[in-house]
Amino acid sequence: MMKIIAVAGTRPNFVKIAPLMAAFAKHPAIEAMLVHTGQHYDARMSEVFFQQLGIPEPDINLGVGSGTHAEQMGKIMMAFEPVVTEHRPDVVVVVGDVNSTIACGIVAVRAGVKLAHVEAGLRSGDRAMPEEINRLMTDAISDYLFCSEPAGVENLRAEGHADERVIFVGNVMIDTLLKNREKAEASDVLDRMNVHAGEYAVLTLHRPSNVDDQAVLGNLLDVLDVIQKDMPIIFPVHPRTRNNLLAGPLGQRAGEMSNLKMVEPAGYLDFLKMMASARLVLTDSGGIQEETTILKVPCLTLRENTERPITAEVGSNQIVGTDPATILAAYRLIMEGKSRSPETPPLWDGHAAERVAKILVEKLAVR
Ligand code: UD1
Repeated sequence: MMKIIAVAGTRPNFVKIAPLMAAFAKHPAIEAMLVHTGQHYDARMSEVFFQQLGIPEPDINLGVGSGTHAEQMGKIMMAFEPVVTEHRPDVVVVVGDVNSTIACGIVAVRAGVKLAHVEAGLRSGDRAMPEEINRLMTDAISDYLFCSEPAGVENLRAEGHADERVIFVGNVMIDTLLKNREKAEASDVLDRMNVHAGEYAVLTLHRPSNVDDQAVLGNLLDVLDVIQKDMPIIFPVHPRTRNNLLAGPLGQRAGEMSNLKMVEPAGYLDFLKMMASARLVLTDSGGIQEETTILKVPCLTLRENTERPITAEVGSNQIVGTDPATILAAYRLIMEGKSRSPETPPLWDGHAAERVAKILVEKLAVR
């Protein structure tokens, strides 16, 4: 039996770990444990994803919660180390690019345990993003680098990683989307939000560079004010954004926009339904760029760069930054029906997690 400890800590991690845990459970040669770091802890950011995606109850919850980066990573490392020492897995599997990813990765490698990184090789080129540093560091110490798109493979090769460690498997987040798409269709969220399919926008914002900077946030509100006059905007507000936006003077301005519907963070199925039926999506998230590509819904990414270039090359995504004129120009083209028809990226086929399971068993058996 191959013993795996899989790690998840934040909302997007849960969406990625769900198909991996399912694939591990199905594989006769794998015994897997799940560790939740507790980086995200609100029911709406965590529990609801476990329920809706059928993720098994974590075997261990490290319960670390929020803090500065150093506090958060320090607490995760201190809590995860005894877990690795006690259970001695053959491999630790980490996903994505959050603080939980790198903190658990370092602990595994220091304990002499193999490390597998799922969603390896993505690079925005922007070292001011905490996630970029997490990605670089995690990949640098990983034994198995599972890539979601061709750019990931190219980046890792350019950084000198040996070919046999770099494996293109496709996108586990899309495994989850394809599996739940039908179930999400049944959600009555549009009625609850009082909007009609194809006649509203969805917005998410949580990147520190957008929501921690009042000038940038002010620019984005200028844009939203224009769009909300055309159609309702559903805005499920991330806790970081709630703390920074609603607390300040800009919160009052946002509150006065009658068609900007600020709501609690949505569960997975409601959010998938909201995206799938939207006229367009505005976001600074990574995963949403990928999900809208598969849903073929136009996506405007409110960032200067992306670590997921395939979504803009073949998908429905456009990187528009935070300058109001640029965002609104792209918005108007979408409204005129001038967006190109997106394609599906290679291997985003619903079977990425099964490939990870199979390859891990093969690789570790020939060790
Ligand atoms: C983290 C990830 C980010 C990812 C995002 C997805 C890092 C460095 N960042 O950002 O890459 O895109 O998750 O959501 O790992 N809070 C709550 N309840 C919670 C969790 C957080 O209220 O359940 C609040 C706290 O005030 C906390 C703040 O949100 O201080 C930020 O949380 P944190 O985990 O530090 O980072 P995120 O912004 O969520």
